[in-house]
Amino acid sequence: MLADRRIVLGITGGIAAYKAIEVCRRLVDAGAHVVPVMTRGATRFVGPTTFSALASEPVRTSLFDDADPIPHTRLGQTADLVVVCPATARLIGTYAAGISNDLLTATLLATRAPVVIAPAMHTEMWEHPAVQDNLRLLASRGVRIVPPAEGRLAGGDLGKGRLADPADIVAAVDAILRSPDLEGLHVLVTAGGTREPIDPVRFIGNRSSGKQGHALAEEAWSRGAKVTLVTTTDRSVSADVDVVRVATASEMEQAVMSRAPAADVVVMAAAVADFRPAHPVGTKIKKADGVPAVTLEPTTDILAGLGAAKPPTQTLVGFAAETSDVRDNAEAKLARKGLDLIVANDVSAPNVGFEHDTNQVTIVSADGVVADVALADKRAVAAAVFDAIVAHRLPSSSPQ
Ligand code: CTP
Repeated sequence: MLADRRIVLGITGGIAAYKAIEVCRRLVDAGAHVVPVMTRGATRFVGPTTFSALASEPVRTSLFDDADPIPHTRLGQTADLVVVCPATARLIGTYAAGISNDLLTATLLATRAPVVIAPAMHTEMWEHPAVQDNLRLLASRGVRIVPPAEGRLAGGDLGKGRLADPADIVAAVDAILRSPDLEGLHVLVTAGGTREPIDPVRFIGNRSSGKQGHALAEEAWSRGAKVTLVTTTDRSVSADVDVVRVATASEMEQAVMSRAPAADVVVMAAAVADFRPAHPVGTKIKKADGVPAVTLEPTTDILAGLGAAKPPTQTLVGFAAETSDVRDNAEAKLARKGLDLIVANDVSAPNVGFEHDTNQVTIVSADGVVADVALADKRAVAAAVFDAIVAHRLPSSSPQ
């Protein structure tokens, strides 16, 4: 998938810069057109001539030494992908903050192509909250991060921070440039927790942040799908997605049921209230009137309704937030609601699910566990969910 693809290879100033030579060589061997861009720091570790000799074009090191007065926009616009290897803490921070201070950061800001970064630094720097926050921010914008490995670091230290294997970096690039596997599909995703009014100022809600649903919508879009996102949050979406904002379970039901028949894939990641106040009042309940008794009534189970009306070619995916017997509860829910797949998580575990940036899930079909996804960024979990959906839709693994 790399043949004839135009790849900007950014190299920053770290001891691992010498391994970028191997990445460059592998990309060129696979047929890619590699355009190397080195920061000033990188040239202290590896000679620019090496990259000029191995890559498809001479190395570029500055915004100003080119005949072209705007090399960054041309590089950014013509790239099929930009990979930064190694990515220092400084590059990660500058890119996350949207600052352009050299040709590489300018190119990163000027491109709409997918971006892969392979960080390498000392363990203390890798674990610093500022670096981790910046990485999370970049991941939430769709940047793919090839995490560092454990091993020997500069100065004889040992620990996490060693640049990933060049083969893994090239594999990550290759995976992104593969043909978009959701092209031609219409994907409907729901996100966030519903709010059920008690009176005009109070509501019954839940702890869902909508992050997982939004990551699913962005992932589906990046894989070529036409995406509709029904969300209760005002979170922005960094993808060309049709966004429908709703608040209550009944608004979500209307938005989903009217759009689902046209969808090839429906993923219900929203935390829909199971109960709502039976008699919301139109004016604010006053303290002086005493403590109100709020009577609840059940809401409609949207997912069960979708399962009952599911077109034969549609793939229906539910979520199950559990605090015990995760797999058994998920399997029961899958059968009860007529689903193809269910994504189950134990929300009592640390850093999992509600409000967190990370999630840890088990994806289950009627045939059993399809994938166990270890604690990972919600975008990575979204990628695993769509991998399972794509596999489920293949004729060999599905009766459709
Ligand atoms: N769901 C839904 N409509 C509801 C409640 C839930 O569509 N009124 C969907 C959620 O979007 C999720 C799935 O059902 O995909 C699982 O929700 P969950 O609350 O875990 O399941 P319940 O069936 O409500 O079971 P319980 O709360 O008893 O675990």
